[in-house]
Parts: sequence; structure tokens; C-alpha cells
Amino acid sequence: MKTLGLVKEPEFENRICFLPKEIKQLSQQFEVEIFIEPGLGERLGIPDTAYQEAGATVNDRETVLNNTDCILSINQIDDFVVNGKPNTHIGIFNMLYYPERSEKYLNKATTVYSLDLLPRTTLAQSMDVLSSMASLAGYKAVLKATAHYSGSLPMFTTAAGTLNPAKVLVLGAGVAGLQAIATAKRLGAIVEAFDVRKSAGEEVRSLGAKFVAVEGAEEAKDAGGYAVAQSEEYLKKQKQLIHERVRNANIVICTANIPGKKAPLLLEKNTVEAMQPGSVIIDMAAEQGGNCEVSQPGKTIDYNSITIIGDSHLSREVAQAASQLLSTNYYNFLKYLLQSTKEDDELLQKSKVIDNGTLTNPILINKFELA
Ligand code: NAI
Repeated sequence: MKTLGLVKEPEFENRICFLPKEIKQLSQQFEVEIFIEPGLGERLGIPDTAYQEAGATVNDRETVLNNTDCILSINQIDDFVVNGKPNTHIGIFNMLYYPERSEKYLNKATTVYSLDLLPRTTLAQSMDVLSSMASLAGYKAVLKATAHYSGSLPMFTTAAGTLNPAKVLVLGAGVAGLQAIATAKRLGAIVEAFDVRKSAGEEVRSLGAKFVAVEGAEEAKDAGGYAVAQSEEYLKKQKQLIHERVRNANIVICTANIPGKKAPLLLEKNTVEAMQPGSVIIDMAAEQGGNCEVSQPGKTIDYNSITIIGDSHLSREVAQAASQLLSTNYYNFLKYLLQSTKEDDELLQKSKVIDNGTLTNPILINKFELA
């Protein structure tokens, strides 16, 4: 790779995947020339001159897209034209859930790495975009819920009486859920959490929250630390228990997900209807079908005086922090890619979806064969 290009993300995206600090580091360490579209950093108030001082060259969008060996972005870039020149595209494309996103690269001279597919191993930790974004999203979910909740999170003792602390229920105690628990605890709420993974119980308790366990969950050793889909019987038992706990909750943060699959439905309509008016639900799984039957992706709705926010991209609302973490993750990945000498490197094999126009991800190949 001799040249690297960055263009502006689609309108809905506030984050930027590569900042001047990392551009400087990369261009000092490797012989890579970096080209950017004018105004790349404007959403974060970063002028082109900051990128130029870091070593980047400003060029028009079309030239950047069509004349660099590697394009770095967060989302897919619709006008990324593959002109036959060997090209690499690195981003976060969630292709296991949106397999159609991989099709546009087929039979072109393009290689695609999707960083959401990196294994959750110690070696890949510094490149783990999912953890970086989930952590910020979990934090933002609690702040957002608090802004919509008209009660107080901590207990207030005043001369006019005592206000009870809010009760927060967190569904799914992975990276986002644990950060939501920690944030809600810091704000003084009483917190309970559910997860199907037994190991999550210890982490939840270590944050001072209560872990509500449902017996009989399935766990798979080969799932890379992720949850697997549960049986109908388990989900029925779990929904009943959630139904009981939800009635007392003022805020519910939904984060339960299974990679590449529809998210488990944990809050049915009748459960939402059992909640107290004024409660708030944040459904961070909304894009993958949602944990809550009533939530809609990208929308805030009022349902029986309960505010329901469907948002799977909350890290976009803390764009500066998110860009800082992404830029470090992308830099670490690029450095690894540029230094790699092994043909069968695990991290690169697992994150590569398309190799020179050919689909290589076994889960996606399977999905297309079944379709
Ligand atoms: P995720 O975003 O795929 O899912 C969020 C949470 O939902 C998970 O904790 C999952 O167990 C839970 N969940 C799924 N179905 C559920 C259901 N029916 N009811 C309740 N909860 C349900 O997961 P995330 O946050 O990306 O983390 C996945 C795993 O990866 C975790 O075990 C985490 O500790 C591990 N991890 C390991 C890292 C490493 O470097 N070794 C780095 C980051 C995460």
C-alpha cells in the first residue's frame, strides 16, 4: 500500500475514522502518502490545514476515491468507484447482518476488511472498534435516558421530603451494558441487569448492580465469547421474569444482541404496557430488529406516556470521543496490516470479507448459498 484516501462520510455520520494525530504517526512510520477530501474534518471543527500539517494532501473527492490504493471509512461510500485498479476498502460494514453490502465488491479488483469482524482476542484489543463504540454508546444511552426521564436518578433528601432513586434495568451486560450500568450507578440509580452469559454475572455484581439470572441458558464455546440464540422455552421464561422486573423500572436500557442475527425480543408490547407512565426505554438493538417490540430504529416515540428511543448508533452523539477511539483503532489495524508477513494471519483472515473481488467470509458464503 503506497497511498491511502479519506473522503467525507455520508450525511448521517458525525464521526471521523482517522484524525491528524494518527495521520502524522502513520506517515512518519511508513512510506504511505495520505490524501483527503476538502472539509473531511469539518463536522468536528478540524480544518484541512490540521490534516495538511500532519502530512496529508488535500484533493477533490473523485481523485481521492479513484487514485488511492486503500480507502478508509466508517460507512460504505456509495460513489466509491472501482476502476479496475487493485484497491482495498477498510471500514465497519456489519455485513453479517447486511450481506447485500458485500455484493457491490464482487468480481472487482477490491479487497475489503470489515473491522467489526475482528476476533475478540487480546491481540486484537487495540483495534476493537466494537468495544470502543459500544462503551461510549452505553454511557450515552444512560445520559439520553436521563434527559428524557422527568424524575431524578439519585436519591434526594430535602426539607420537602425524600425522592427515591430511579430504578434502571439493563438487558444485555456486554460492553455497552456494563458501561450503562457503571454510568447509571455513578448517577445514583439502583441497577439490575440480565444476560444469558453466566460470566456476565460477576462483572455486573462487581459494578454494584444486581444480576438477574435465568436458569438454562445455552452457551457455546466456539462463539468467540458472544451469546448464542436461546431456545423458545428459555426466552419465554426470561420474558416472564423481565415482565416482573420491568414494572418497577423507570429506565430500561436494551443492549442484547447476537452477531449477524436478529436481536432477541425481550420486551413485548404487554410488558411495555405494564410499565409506569413517564418511564424511558432506550433500545440499542433497534437496528437488528430490536429487544423491544414497540421501538423503531432511529425514532423517538411516545407509547402510553412511555418514551421509547430506538438508536443503535449512539456513539455518533459523542462524535469527538468516538472519533478519537476509532482513529486509534484504525491506526493499530493499519499498522498491523502493513507489518504483516503471514499469509494466514488470523486477524486479517477473519476481518477480510472480500479478497480481490471474491467473497471469503465463511458465514456470508453460507448465507448466500442458503438464500
Ligand atoms: P453483543 O453486542 O453481541 O451483545 C450484548 C450482550 O447481549 C452480550 O453480553 C450478550 O451476552 C447479551 N445477550 C444476547 N442475547 C441475550 C438475551 N436473550 N438476554 C440477555 N442478554 C443477551 O456483545 P458485546 O458487548 O460486543 O460483547 C460480546 C463478548 O465479547 C462479551 O463476552 C465480552 O466480554 C467479550 N469481549 C471480549 C474482548 C476481548 O478483548 N477479549 C473485548 C470486548 C468484548
